[in-house]
Amino acid sequence: MGKFDDVRLHLRGQRYHWLVTGAAGFIGSNLVEALLKLGQQVTGLDNFATGHQHNLDQVREAVGSEAWASFSFIEADIRDLAACHAACAGKDYILHEAALGSVSRSIDDPLLTHGTNVTGFLNMLVAARDAPVKRFVYAASSSTYGDHPALPKVEDTIGRPLSPYAVTKYANELYADVFARTYGMETIGLRYFNVFGPRQDPDGAYAAVIPQWVSALIRNRPLLINGDGETSRDFCFIDNVVQANLLAALADKPGAVNQVYNVALNERTSLNQLYLMMRELLQERFPHLRQHQAQYQGFRAGDVRHSQADISKARELLGFDPSHRIGEGLKEAMDWYVRHLAPQH
Ligand SMILES: NC(=O)c1ccc[n+]([C@@H]2O[C@H](COP(=O)([O-])OP(=O)(O)OC[C@H]3O[C@@H](n4cnc5c(N)ncnc54)[C@H](O)[C@@H]3O)[C@@H](O)[C@H]2O)c1
Repeated sequence: MGKFDDVRLHLRGQRYHWLVTGAAGFIGSNLVEALLKLGQQVTGLDNFATGHQHNLDQVREAVGSEAWASFSFIEADIRDLAACHAACAGKDYILHEAALGSVSRSIDDPLLTHGTNVTGFLNMLVAARDAPVKRFVYAASSSTYGDHPALPKVEDTIGRPLSPYAVTKYANELYADVFARTYGMETIGLRYFNVFGPRQDPDGAYAAVIPQWVSALIRNRPLLINGDGETSRDFCFIDNVVQANLLAALADKPGAVNQVYNVALNERTSLNQLYLMMRELLQERFPHLRQHQAQYQGFRAGDVRHSQADISKARELLGFDPSHRIGEGLKEAMDWYVRHLAPQH
């Protein structure tokens, strides 16, 4: 039996109170769903900056009314310290996901990204310290590797950040580390690498590549690949991220706490490969895609060229064992997008 089985078994027998910030977003809503299905008591916090009520509605449908009764929601902004204090009071574990994602958004509006991702993060740390909670697990990012060329990425070797977003995510790690040493807090940062899966928003100027492309393919709109398409990423299905969060919250191995971990697969897929995989998965249901061709545009500012995670640290100290490789994850994600973006199919 793997460590994740142990953790799920433990949670089925023991009820904790969790706070998930960013609960109306992609990753947050999937965490809420997983926790409710394990019989946990969950409070969600969100200000709907990029999240949606329909994500929470889908969680309610997925877990059923009995589990849903263990969920409560606070509409609040993490830039409001009093709201953070109220939300953290009485909680055992915090899974902090609320932030403004997107490298491009941070280049367009660095102050806005800083306010949520740094000031909001610090508010949450202070509130979690004062509660006090057992552990504070937070969303870090692969963008922290910046311009360091080494592959695969190992946690201790980072370069200079390439965007304001990357600065904010690195600042999170620095603050968490200082709060651990100064106030004796238990924190774990999870450096996600290009997460994808159900409920990731396909709309808006800052949509991530997979939902943006699936939406373009299904709706037969132009699909744009940045640069030459040989930019590569370690795409990570959402179930692997949910697993990493629960393992981090309950990690008990010596040395496991007050660390940051890569969360991905240690696999690299180019944008050109990704495009072909997605077209292949969708073309049976959408015959127009057999003739579909992608278009190319310039490289995007602030983008890292290649990204691939060494995940041996998470495997060793957390017992992380990803359940979905990219192909399996893409299949589940495509099915979900077809159901939600193309109701006629
Ligand atoms: N998706 C990825 O590939 C990826 C990769 C690395 C890191 N991350 C990090 O994971 C976390 C979750 O990302 P996601 O992909 O689910 O994005 P998302 O935009 O779907 O979710 C973020 C949520 O935070 C909420 N939020 C934003 N500002 C807020 C504020 N001031 N107060 C309260 N709530 C606020 C949004 O409304 C949204 O629901 C973020 O911290 C992000 O930086 C994501």
